[in-house]
Amino acid sequence: MPSSPSPAPPLRLGIAGLGTVGIGVVKIVQRHGPLLARRAGRPIEIAAVCASSRHKNRSADISAYGWEDDPVALARRDDVDLVIELIGGENGPAKATVEAALAAGKDVVTANKALLARHGQALAEAAEGAGRSLRFEAAVAGGIPVIKALGEGLAGNAMRRVMGVMNGTCNYILTRMESAGLPYETVFEEARQLGYLEADPELDVGGIDAAHKLALLAALAFGCRVDFDAIELQGIGAVSIQDIRLARDMGFAIKLLGVAQMTGRGLEQRMTPCLVPETHPLAQLDGGTNMVVIEGDALGQLVLRGAGAGEGPTASAVMGDVVDIARGLRLPVFGQPAASLVPAPPAAVSAAAPWYLRMVLLDKPGALAKIATVLGEAGISIDRMRQYGHDDAHAPVLIVTHKASSDDIRVALDGFAETGVLVGEPVAMRIEEV
Ligand code: HSE
Repeated sequence: MPSSPSPAPPLRLGIAGLGTVGIGVVKIVQRHGPLLARRAGRPIEIAAVCASSRHKNRSADISAYGWEDDPVALARRDDVDLVIELIGGENGPAKATVEAALAAGKDVVTANKALLARHGQALAEAAEGAGRSLRFEAAVAGGIPVIKALGEGLAGNAMRRVMGVMNGTCNYILTRMESAGLPYETVFEEARQLGYLEADPELDVGGIDAAHKLALLAALAFGCRVDFDAIELQGIGAVSIQDIRLARDMGFAIKLLGVAQMTGRGLEQRMTPCLVPETHPLAQLDGGTNMVVIEGDALGQLVLRGAGAGEGPTASAVMGDVVDIARGLRLPVFGQPAASLVPAPPAAVSAAAPWYLRMVLLDKPGALAKIATVLGEAGISIDRMRQYGHDDAHAPVLIVTHKASSDDIRVALDGFAETGVLVGEPVAMRIEEV
């Protein structure tokens, strides 16, 4: 009688970091053992875990697993096949753990966008050189499987543009400012009290966390080396409730929008507050939700929307990578061999777009004419213009331009300063055509 084939060996996980996401991963493995085994074709087990404190109160029981105080020791354990790095941070123990795991011949799954945005190329080369997987679905847009979409489902497309709202905290702050009519500082404080902000809030409101994510998407979409420093970066700290209201009045919503776009002049990467038409799904995205919009030549436009953070959604993304590795699926880290990724050709000038300009003028004859002259001399044409609620001396003015380059807008802003009719600083925000 032919003997039955021996059962596939389990995939043994080592989890470094037992914060919100780590515990979410533990819960999924505990809750869905048979389901995961059926899907992966082999059992998926937790061999060992590591965190800063062993005896902390946690919402999952970890007593059955091996324990390490040092994540690098976890990465080197003989009973661990796959290391899940959930420590965070672009250097320090997270980087040492991933490097140690790859050097020890283990596969790695990480949610660490900062690490990959800074060291993605070197780590991808290390992983591919060692014949191991390095997967990072959970690093971008939480539970939305956007890495899988770009790297696999859309591999037949030349990408045109990838854009998205990828920081739930910023989206919460901007939408709450509008719905409650509250200033930035008040809503920032609310977000802090709700526990939405990263330990270093600048990662959120400075746009850095979202820019880390954009850098990864850009590499995957355009076959370029990850280049975080090439991203034009501006956070939401200067967005006022007044601009949110006036933009809405003109038919737009303000979002912290990441855009990566290959143009004839190179790869543009921006993470800045932008206006988007209020009829587009991006404008309708409320609260802490994320949205990624992908445009490919064959596909057209695809909109992905879902939870960008939190225990369940982020652990779901981690487990998608784990199951792929358990199945034996091996993919290049950034969609093509790391050695073939080219340095991103930086775009010197960003693609022309309409702009929102708001300024306060001295309310005297000829003031507006001076502003219009500066725009005309910069080659910028006015599409729409409004004056709002003057007092005795001041006239707030809002202008929507036809398409103009950011260089031309800079020239115009310098020109406004020379007119002698401007009160305070003007506000300029790009209107993204979506
Ligand atoms: N702090 C992030 C956010 C989640 O608010 O979206 C982790 O990237």
